Amino acid sequence: MILVTGATGVIGRPLVELLVQAKARVRAVTRAGAPTPDAPAAGAPAPVEVVTGDPSRPETLAPHLHGVTALFLHPRAAGDAAADLVALAAEHGVRRVVALAAANIDEPLDHQPSRLRGDRNKEAEEAAVTSGLEWVSLRPSSFAVNALTGWAAQIRAGDVVRGPYAGFRETPIDERDVAAVAAHALLADDVLRQRIHLTGPQALTHAEMVETIGRVIGRPLSYVEVPPEAAVQGWVARGIPEPFVTALMARYARDLGRPPRVSEEVARILGRPAYGFASWAEEHAAEFTRTM
Ligand SMILES: NC(=O)c1ccc[n+]([C@@H]2O[C@H](COP(=O)([O-])OP(=O)(O)OC[C@H]3O[C@@H](n4cnc5c(N)ncnc54)[C@H](OP(=O)(O)O)[C@@H]3O)[C@@H](O)[C@H]2O)c1
Repeated sequence: MILVTGATGVIGRPLVELLVQAKARVRAVTRAGAPTPDAPAAGAPAPVEVVTGDPSRPETLAPHLHGVTALFLHPRAAGDAAADLVALAAEHGVRRVVALAAANIDEPLDHQPSRLRGDRNKEAEEAAVTSGLEWVSLRPSSFAVNALTGWAAQIRAGDVVRGPYAGFRETPIDERDVAAVAAHALLADDVLRQRIHLTGPQALTHAEMVETIGRVIGRPLSYVEVPPEAAVQGWVARGIPEPFVTALMARYARDLGRPPRVSEEVARILGRPAYGFASWAEEHAAEFTRTM
C-alpha cells in the first residue's frame, strides 16, 4: 500500500492515476471530507482508498498508516511537519519515502520564493534522506503549469501577455513527468538514495513559451515586457502575496542570462523522452481558450 500526500494536487493527481495503472494499492490523503460511495473525494480513480487527514498534523494520518509500505511526501501538504510525519511513518512500518522537493533547494533559503508560500521543499528532502528508510528526493524545475497560473487569464482576453523579464529562461517540466518519475521511485528500486534533478527537455524564454502556446492554439501571441515594479503591482492586485512576488522578481533579476541546466533524468529513468512544452500546451489548450 502506498500513501500519497498532496494527492489532490498538481503532482498528486497524475501520480495516483499512474500508481493505479501500475496496479499498486493507493491510499490518497486529502484534508477534504470523507468520500461517499457515489462521489470519491477529489475525483480520485475508483480503486483508490481516499482518506481524510492533514499531513501538516501527522497525528491525523496515524489511523491511515496501517499496511503502508511507501510514502509520497508532499512538501506543501506536510509543511513544517515533514520530519515528524516520516518518523511516524517509520514507526508504523513504512519502508520507503519519496519526497517531492525542488531544483533550487541548495540555494540560500531567502532565494527560494516558494518558502514564502509555506513550501518546505528542503525540509521534505532532509526528512527523507535522514529517515533511515529507503529514500528518493525529486528536485524538479519550474512546473509547466505555472504558464496557466501566470498567463492563461491574459491569453483568454487577447493576444498579448504582459510580464517581466521576457528573456528569462526556464526549463518547464510537464507535471506528468514529475508524477511518472515519482511513481517509478515508489515502485522500482533503481533510483534509491538519489537526489534527482528533473527538468523539461528544453530551456525556453518567457517570450518563447508564450509563442509556443500561441502556435498550439493557433493565435499570434506575443510577450510584452513590463518593468518588474509594474509586474509586482499587477500580481499583488490579483491576490498573490507581495513577499512571494518580490522574491520571484529577485530570482529573475539574479538568474537572467544564466542558462539553466537541462537534465536528461526523465528520459534516463522512464526510458522515453520528457514531454516538451508544446506537448504540455496541447494538453492544456482548452484552458487558454475557453470563455470563463
Ligand atoms: N510550481 C513549481 O514550479 C514547482 C517547482 C518545483 C517544486 N515545486 C514544489 O512542489 C510543491 C507543490 O506541488 P503541487 O503543485 O502538487 O501542490 P498543490 O497542488 O498546490 O498541493 C497539493 C495538495 O496539498 C494539499 N495542500 C495544499 N496546501 C496545503 C496546506 N497549506 N496544508 C496542508 N495541505 C495542503 C492540498 O490537498 P487537500 O486540499 O486535498 O488536502 C493540495 O491539493 C511545493 O512544495 C512547491 O514548492 C513547485
